[in-house]
Amino acid sequence: MIKMNNISKSYILNDDETPLYVLKNINLNIKEKEFTAIMGPSGSGKSTLINIISFLDRDFEGEYYFLDEDVKEFKDKDLSTMRNQNVGFVFQSFNLIETDTIYENIELPLLYRGATHRSAKPIVLDQLEKVGLLSKKDQLPRQLSGGQKQRVAIARALANEPTFIVADEPTGALDTHTSTEIMTLFQNLNADHDVTILMVTHDSEAAAYCKRIIEVRDGQVIG
Ligand SMILES: Nc1ncnc2c1ncn2[C@@H]1O[C@H](COP(=O)(O)OP(=O)(O)O)[C@@H](O)[C@H]1O
Ligand SMILES: [Mg+2]
Repeated sequence: MIKMNNISKSYILNDDETPLYVLKNINLNIKEKEFTAIMGPSGSGKSTLINIISFLDRDFEGEYYFLDEDVKEFKDKDLSTMRNQNVGFVFQSFNLIETDTIYENIELPLLYRGATHRSAKPIVLDQLEKVGLLSKKDQLPRQLSGGQKQRVAIARALANEPTFIVADEPTGALDTHTSTEIMTLFQNLNADHDVTILMVTHDSEAAAYCKRIIEVRDGQVIG
């Protein structure tokens, strides 16, 4: 599904003409239904890599083929379409709309994609059930715990039936017990619902739940 050949990424900083390479010759092959952790210390290039994978950044060297399509060939408009159709994002800070109910938070991306309130309803309820939060549907985000908020964010990401889920430090703002709960949910979604998950973390305990670990150091894949 994701095939990267020799991907590099550099920044040219204002006071210096020499490019600073933050990704160096990355080769990566990720198949559908995989549950992968991208692990590495802070500043090693994990977010930079995930931004390229999730079509947020096309300014890179090397080749990226997604479902056999050359990402370099996409125009800006194609790139945002690819993102909307294929990627479900889960963030460290949840990014829920505080003035909307849990139900509305999950419904919103469906409405953006042209669903009606009526056609969205069974999908929203199904996702809420999957993450175990049906009883919280009429509450506001601030009435939920951190772990519950993250489960809402996961339900929202799943609602559009993405090809894969990208989660950048999804347990970064959670305590150990709650992190375990979120990782178990990801594990079940992958095992029972074939959800393809790509998770970035610097936490080896969280990464241990994944089927595969890709280690990044100083912009290079080392294992
Ligand atoms: N816009 C930018 N301009 C210059 N350097 C950047 C920019 N974004 C990230 N970097 C640098 O790239 C490196 C990798 O960053 P990042 O991918 O965010 O690491 P991680 O997610 O592993 O913590 C860091 O050294 C960071 O300072
Ligand atoms: Mg990061």
